[in-house]
Amino acid sequence: MNYNKLGKSGLLVSELCLGTMTFGKQVNKEDSIKMVHQFLDQGGNFIDTADVYVGGESERIVGEAIQQRRSEVVLATKVRMKVGPHPNDFGYSRRRIIEGVDQSLRRLNTDYIDLYQLHVWDNLTPIEEALRALDDLITAGKVRYIGCSNFLAWQMMKALSYSDFKRYARFISVQPQYSLVSREMDREVMSLCKEEEIGVIPWAPLAGGFLSGKYKSKEKPEEGRFAEGSGEYGWENKATDRNFEILQAVEEIAVEVGKTPAQVSLNWLLGKSEIVSPIFGASNLQQFDENMGAVGWTLSEEQWNRLDQASRLPDEYPQRFLDKFKRHI
Ligand SMILES: NC(=O)c1ccc[n+]([C@@H]2O[C@H](COP(=O)([O-])OP(=O)(O)OC[C@H]3O[C@@H](n4cnc5c(N)ncnc54)[C@H](OP(=O)(O)O)[C@@H]3O)[C@@H](O)[C@H]2O)c1
Repeated sequence: MNYNKLGKSGLLVSELCLGTMTFGKQVNKEDSIKMVHQFLDQGGNFIDTADVYVGGESERIVGEAIQQRRSEVVLATKVRMKVGPHPNDFGYSRRRIIEGVDQSLRRLNTDYIDLYQLHVWDNLTPIEEALRALDDLITAGKVRYIGCSNFLAWQMMKALSYSDFKRYARFISVQPQYSLVSREMDREVMSLCKEEEIGVIPWAPLAGGFLSGKYKSKEKPEEGRFAEGSGEYGWENKATDRNFEILQAVEEIAVEVGKTPAQVSLNWLLGKSEIVSPIFGASNLQQFDENMGAVGWTLSEEQWNRLDQASRLPDEYPQRFLDKFKRHI
C-alpha cells in the first residue's frame, strides 16, 4: 500500500480509502468489523463514513471496529443531511455543526475526527457561518482537518478565499463523485484542486459496481445497488451506450493485464495525479478482497491512456478555447 499526502497538509492517507455506507445494511456488523480489520492489516489507514449512513449505524460500527486501533486510522465523517424531524436538524448552522460533531464523536466512540467534511453545499446557511464553526472545532481539538464534498468549483473557491481572509483552517480535500464513467469534475473542480492543492478523494470509483463488469445488458438489475437506486445510483443514469463502451475498454484491458474490471477501474484512478485516495465500497468480503487487489501493480502508460481516451469528456468551451491560448516556456 502506498500513502499520499492529503492536499495541503502533512497528513498521509492510504492510496485506497474504505467507504462504509454499506455497514449495517448490505454488510452485517460482524463482517463490517472484519472488513475494517482486514483493511488495516493490509496497510489501509483511511476510512470514510457519515452521520446519515444507515441512520448512524455505519458510524457506530466503525467506532466499534477501530476501538483498539484508533491511532492507526485517519477517520473521516460528514455533516449536513437531515438527522431528525426538527427544522434545525440539518444544514450548516453553527448550532447544527457543533451538535453534529458531538453526536458523531459519541457514535464513533472517539474524542477526535481526523477529517470533518461538509457533505453538500447548504444554500440556506452563509458559508461564513459554517467555516467559523469548523475553525472553532479544530481549535477545540474535536476535529483535525476539514474538507468538503459535492461542492461546485465556485463554492469551493468562495470557501477557500474566506478561510484565507479570516485565517481560518481551510479545506484540505474534496469528495466528489468521480470514476471512468463520471468525469464531470474534469470541467472545473480538478484544475481548481491542482491550483489550490486540494486532495481529491472520489466516491463511487466503481460507479456503484457498474465498473465491476457484472452488468451485461441494459436490463434493470433485480438486486444490488441499482435495483431501487435513484439519482446518481439510478440505473437509467448508468446504463447508457457510452458507459457500456467505456466498460468494454476496461474489460479488454482487464484481460490484457490478468486483473478484474473493478481492479482496472480503481487502478486507473490511482494513476491520476489529482486523485489522492478513491473511496471504494463493498457489499461483502469477497468484493472487498477483489477491490483491494487494485494496488501493488500499475497499468502501462498506453493502457492508462487508452482508458483516458475512452472516458474523457468531449472537447468543449471554455476549456477548448483556453487550451488554444496556453503558453509554454
Ligand atoms: N460524499 C458523498 O456524497 C458520497 C456519496 C456516496 C458514497 N460516498 C462514500 O463513498 C463510498 C463508496 O461509494 P460507493 O459504494 O458508491 O462506491 P463504489 O465502490 O463505486 O460501489 C460499491 C458498490 O459496488 C458493488 N461492488 C463493489 N465492488 C464490487 C466488485 N468487486 N464486484 C461486484 N460488485 C462490486 C457493490 O454493490 P452491490 O450491492 O450492488 O453488489 C458495492 O456496494 C461510500 O461507502 C461512502 O463512504 C460518499
